[in-house]
Amino acid sequence: MKFSWRVPGLVASVLIGGQAVSAIDLDLNSTDSIKQAASTAAYGLVKWYTGNNTGDVPGNLPAPYFWWEAGAMFGSLVDYWYYTGDDSYNEITTQALLFQTGPNDDYMPPNQTKTEGNDDQGFWAMAAMTAAEDNYPNPPSDKPQWLALAQAVFNTQATRWDDTTCGGGLRWQIFTFNNGYNYKNTISNGCFFNVAARLARYTGNQTYADWAEKIFDWVSALQLMDENYHFYDGSDDTINCTQVNHIQWTYNAGVYMQGAAAMWNLTQSDTWKQRVLGIINGTSVFFQDGVMYEVACEPNGKCDNDQRSFKAYLSRAMAATAKVAPFTFDLIMPLLQSSAQAAAQQCSGTAGPYGSFGNVCGLRWTQKQQYDGSFGPGEQMAAMEIFQSNLVTKVQGPVTNKTGGTSKGNPNAGSNSGTSPIVYSTISTSDRAGAGIITTLVLIGILGGALWMASA
Ligand SMILES: *[C@@H]1O[C@H](CO)[C@@H](O)[C@H](O)[C@H]1NC(C)=O
Ligand SMILES: *[C@@H]1O[C@H](CO)[C@@H](O)[C@H](O)[C@H]1NC(C)=O
Ligand SMILES: *[C@@H]1O[C@H](CO)[C@@H](O)[C@H](O)[C@H]1NC(C)=O
Ligand SMILES: *[C@@H]1O[C@H](CO)[C@@H](O)[C@H](O)[C@H]1NC(C)=O
Ligand SMILES: *[C@@H]1O[C@H](CO)[C@@H](O)[C@H](O)[C@H]1NC(C)=O
Ligand SMILES: *[C@@H]1O[C@H](CO)[C@@H](O)[C@H](O)[C@H]1NC(C)=O
Ligand SMILES: *[C@@H]1O[C@H](CO)[C@@H](O)[C@H](O)[C@H]1NC(C)=O
Ligand SMILES: *[C@@H]1O[C@H](CO)[C@@H](O)[C@H](O)[C@H]1NC(C)=O
Repeated sequence: MKFSWRVPGLVASVLIGGQAVSAIDLDLNSTDSIKQAASTAAYGLVKWYTGNNTGDVPGNLPAPYFWWEAGAMFGSLVDYWYYTGDDSYNEITTQALLFQTGPNDDYMPPNQTKTEGNDDQGFWAMAAMTAAEDNYPNPPSDKPQWLALAQAVFNTQATRWDDTTCGGGLRWQIFTFNNGYNYKNTISNGCFFNVAARLARYTGNQTYADWAEKIFDWVSALQLMDENYHFYDGSDDTINCTQVNHIQWTYNAGVYMQGAAAMWNLTQSDTWKQRVLGIINGTSVFFQDGVMYEVACEPNGKCDNDQRSFKAYLSRAMAATAKVAPFTFDLIMPLLQSSAQAAAQQCSGTAGPYGSFGNVCGLRWTQKQQYDGSFGPGEQMAAMEIFQSNLVTKVQGPVTNKTGGTSKGNPNAGSNSGTSPIVYSTISTSDRAGAGIITTLVLIGILGGALWMASA
């Protein structure tokens, strides 16, 4: 049940209608030019969002885009405001981030819980954490606060750590009745690690730092990350995680890089420095002539809707890393620059889903001059993130509660979640969410040993 959603008519009109639309003109020496490029990509991204239309649900992207990706998108829009100062989308962003918190304020809303994975919840938590770190405007005092929302997700996930198989780890799925409950995947543990590390840095609370160490050690011990700092997709607890699915995705490298950089910023230890440098080195598999690409699915044209957004998360993580771990700046900036320049060339499509608006961003930045005909929120989000990441020298960097952070925390947030019953709505299986939905689909590949490309 993997989809590759296209609107054939629209794609055809782009290709056949053929009116040449110029790419985004990006001058990386000009702050205004970078902001303009990010603004153009953001406009195309928000075009996809219908959650503020009358009768629609705030925080959701229209089908076939899943709930987790909406959380990722609002995290990107928080960063958009932070890097550009443009608050055009703050209203919809705040509304969505608060509407989807669920009754326990832990991003477990009843409409989603039936199919919610730890990674899905994690992407919303990372958005809330970013809002705290960016000093994004705080919610009204009677609403849950950004820091407390991230803490709530951390607390719910810490109780799900499962020592019964594989020596620990979070499962992909939260509930036993879901496909993928047996899968212990790298992105679920990566989101948990990312949030733990950033909470440690923000609050200085050692408990979060201890968890970050523990998660990283587990991922490493299981060879979900190897000695070259390559992150693989996951493993199956029915075989006690003795074999690993070796597919590599940009988002895994991204969430671990950002968490490791936060741990270095907190500890300034040589151990975390070597890990950060190792992870950056390991991302070389995702660059072709300095341009970022999704190696597992772009060359063979098989990226699904989830995967089309993944470059956004590596881009944002690299920018955050350059900021909190300044020794990485010279390694990271050239890659952000060449990738942004190439992405600007790829934003030359004419048609989106809701009519023609120009500068629609395609997927394959490595293809440079030639628009590849694809479009979607993932493509727009990735382009927006790579553009705004080039503004990293223009911002202060993520705050902490000692350096101006104003978000109110609650270390016990989310701890009711375990005791109150989960309310399910009926969701058909075709609505199943999952940032790592691909993982079950390629599970079968584990036993075959190394699996590099996304399967057909
Ligand atoms: C910025 O300008 C300098 C000198 O004016 C030039 O050498 C450099 O290539 C430019 N950088 C970019 C990214 O355009
Ligand atoms: C929803 O928000 C977007 C972005 O702020 C805006 O362009 C659009 O007009 C809004 N739609 C409604 C119905 O308010
Ligand atoms: C849940 O779904 C119902 C029915 O579509 C909708 O009215 C409600 O706003 C949704 N709530 C959330 C938090 O998504
Ligand atoms: C399962 O794997 C863990 C971690 O590698 C190991 O500690 C444990 O002994 C294994 N259990 C069995 C039953 O082999
Ligand atoms: C920061 O958070 C920690 C942990 O919650 C707390 O002990 C400390 O008092 C906070 N510091 C400030 C300045 O608010
Ligand atoms: C960088 O990665 C390559 C291959 O993945 C590896 O051979 C090399 O030792 C790494 N270099 C460093 C400094 O980690
Ligand atoms: C930690 O990160 C902040 C940016 O948020 C930066 O200003 C600071 O210099 C970093 N600390 C070190 C030791 O580099
Ligand atoms: C630190 O975090 C732990 C785990 O959430 C919590 O139990 C403890 O109260 C926190 N300590 C402070 C000082 O906030």
